Amino acid sequence: MIILGIETSCDETAAAIIDANKIKKASKNANIFDVKVLSNIVSSQIEIHKQYGGVVPEVAAREHVPQILPVINEALASAGIKKENAASTIDAIAVTVGPGLVTSLIIGVESAKTLAYAWKKPVIGINHIEGHIYANFIARQEKIKFPAIILTVSGGHTILALMEKHGSIKTIGETRDDAAGEAFDKAAQLMGVGYPGGPLIYSYSLRHNKNKLEKINRLPRPMLKSNDFDFSFSGLKTALRYALENDKNWKKKIPEYAHEFQNAIIESLIIKTIKAAKKYKAKSVLLSGGVSANLGLRQQLESAVKNDLTCTDFFMPDLKYTTDNATMIATAGFFRLLKSKKHPWKNLNVNCNRKL
Ligand code: KG4
Ligand code: ZN
Repeated sequence: MIILGIETSCDETAAAIIDANKIKKASKNANIFDVKVLSNIVSSQIEIHKQYGGVVPEVAAREHVPQILPVINEALASAGIKKENAASTIDAIAVTVGPGLVTSLIIGVESAKTLAYAWKKPVIGINHIEGHIYANFIARQEKIKFPAIILTVSGGHTILALMEKHGSIKTIGETRDDAAGEAFDKAAQLMGVGYPGGPLIYSYSLRHNKNKLEKINRLPRPMLKSNDFDFSFSGLKTALRYALENDKNWKKKIPEYAHEFQNAIIESLIIKTIKAAKKYKAKSVLLSGGVSANLGLRQQLESAVKNDLTCTDFFMPDLKYTTDNATMIATAGFFRLLKSKKHPWKNLNVNCNRKL
């Protein structure tokens, strides 16, 4: 099945083509799926939003307009599909309908609807978080066993979810205030190191000096003792602000503060994820979302799963599928199509507050 994916929920205009198929029955209840990526095009607006220190919704929407058709064209061309053959080659379109910035989402959704109408194809509306989760199913034939616990950490969301099977994903915990990625971005802003904060804090943290680390104020690990699977990161950002205010020489210790801040976030995420995996007897733990590009989080969660859980496999997406992309949206669309082929363009609408 050839699927065109489209993603415009925030500041990336993305389109991708996948060739996805059910290849065989691995056992009585399990299928093996083959998701091949034919093209993955992402046009990022980071350079534009950098000057404002974050994404400006109005600017993001305006930028999607001139980008969307060239990006879709490039996705078709890189997949070796001629424009005149698109209607006969593409089987379905999948597009992000929410959550996200409403004015940005509209550009992707209206483009997808127009193509679905012209090509007479089904168009599947995908939840952005579901898309991030399905980044784990790209180009991977091995079986992800259920139940799975999934930690999705992005600029807008921090969610722990329980996945019992395809099409059944339930939120069991989430952030009560800032998302983990948002916390990274705000911490980077406090220290004046630039935008987006996640990758910058990570690279600063690598330069930390062990001796200096002992001399800085330790930051709290939020919500560790709470009896649920929720997170909270806004207090951590305030704690960082006070720590910097109380340290005249903080500018000489940015790598140490970056390391401490990153560790506080990673520890909170890992402890709750392992706790959830134990409670729900998870056979797999999955990581997803833009913050899953963080090598510290990737390595530490992988070893926590190995050390603290028995008979549980760990999965994380390839780095290029961690931040926003359309391949993950097309992949989520493929699994929806297996359940039902009926997705008329008339039923498709943006839903910017959509829950999982
Ligand atoms: O998933 P994503 O591309 O967009 C949303 O759905 O929000 O995630 C973007 C977020 C930003 O907050 C960015 O700072 C964070 O992911 N991020 C990282 C890293 N790379 C991106 N956070 C920590 N470490 C990274 N290496
Ligand atoms: Zn995202």
